[in-house]
Amino acid sequence: MNSLTQRSPCKVNFVLNPLGLRPDGYHELETLFYSVPLFDELTVEAGDPGLVLTCSHPELPVDGSNLVHKAATQFFQITGLTPAIRIHLEKKLPLAAGIGGGSANAAVTLRLLNQFFGFPLEASALDPIAARLGSDVNFFLQDGPAIGLGRGERIESLPPFRLLEGKAMVLFHPGFGVSTPWAFKQLSEFPLARNGRPGRAAEVARSFIDGDWPTAAAGLYNGLEQPVLRKFPILRLYQEFFLESGARAALMSGSGSTTFALFDSPEQAWHVLPAFKERFGPSGWLEVAPL
Ligand code: C5P
Repeated sequence: MNSLTQRSPCKVNFVLNPLGLRPDGYHELETLFYSVPLFDELTVEAGDPGLVLTCSHPELPVDGSNLVHKAATQFFQITGLTPAIRIHLEKKLPLAAGIGGGSANAAVTLRLLNQFFGFPLEASALDPIAARLGSDVNFFLQDGPAIGLGRGERIESLPPFRLLEGKAMVLFHPGFGVSTPWAFKQLSEFPLARNGRPGRAAEVARSFIDGDWPTAAAGLYNGLEQPVLRKFPILRLYQEFFLESGARAALMSGSGSTTFALFDSPEQAWHVLPAFKERFGPSGWLEVAPL
């Protein structure tokens, strides 16, 4: 096998519910992850001895600080294989956006390398590697919706979300990012958001699996909105616009700055885009994901 390519998706959090600060500095979480079919692309191919990473995005470093590089380094350390490969990351998703693009890249790198080398590792052996790389990486080792517990890395896979079949999501990233450590740190000023009521993620999951829209929409929740929307109130205006335009629900994803909105059909979602650009200007990343 000379070269292997795989798409690397992103996610939104329908629920991101912090349950308190842990002694290790992380926040205990329950989060409801949903995989979104918008993609980067990763290609691995045989090369000269060593590991060479290239990327289409000029602002993304390709050295050891890149999550793809870190994932690959871990893979070679653990398998004992000698690297002689090139990896290329075709970056199409925005950076520092709260949609887990980098985390997905790391997970897909692990899956891709394992396949490229003929599965030297059991699928379950990838879990602890992913958890070391970041709290969102484990979600992308599996397919389909899931609840994340612990730091977000303990994954409980869920059945398909029937309520979302045939629906569509609009995502908007305004061009500035939000630092995840900063957002979590600010929770110290919002004790109610830092110590959420447990059970929200399971309740919303149940609604999406076999419940109704009003219950699902009312349950969407992101505790990090409190600090992030205070600093960037424009994010609230995006949500209001989507809701006034017929969205069933609108919320910030992860630590932001991406806003997502759920619409009844791809047609309805596409229809909203020109008016959105008219209101807020042409810049930023505005996409429709059919679900
Ligand atoms: O694990 P990850 O690298 O994605 O986390 C980035 C930062 O977000 C952590 O260093 C921490 O400050 C914060 N975080 C947290 N609680 C979590 C996940 C992340 O406080 N459950």
